[in-house]
Amino acid sequence: MNSGGAFGLGLGFGLIPTAVIQVTNLSSAVTSEQMRTLFSFLGEIEELRLYPPDNTPLAFSSKVCYVKFRDPSSVGVAQHLTNTVFIDRALIVVPCAEDD
Ligand SMILES: *[C@@H]1O[C@H](CO)[C@@H](O)[C@H](O)[C@H]1NC(C)=O
Repeated sequence: MNSGGAFGLGLGFGLIPTAVIQVTNLSSAVTSEQMRTLFSFLGEIEELRLYPPDNTPLAFSSKVCYVKFRDPSSVGVAQHLTNTVFIDRALIVVPCAEDD
């Protein structure tokens, strides 16, 4: 009955054991290399996905990035980057359930 899904969708501050973050309010100019550089300071990155990908011909007003860390404790640290201005946007970092 209770899927518990809500805990994976932004309400899970520290409650869900996850090593994945979702980064939103990204500039459309951002690249996956820039994201990798930024978040690699916080912990070893296992996987990084940026949508839409770097070479998408269409212009998108906003991008979203998912970062999976090797160590789940990096997620708490990464959340402190919320409101950090990167290029021209204030980043929003939230924990995210692993099975996106
Ligand atoms: C996204 O970034 C802009 C520019 O920093 C900021 O004004 C806006 O409030 C941010 N959006 C959200 C939903 O926080």
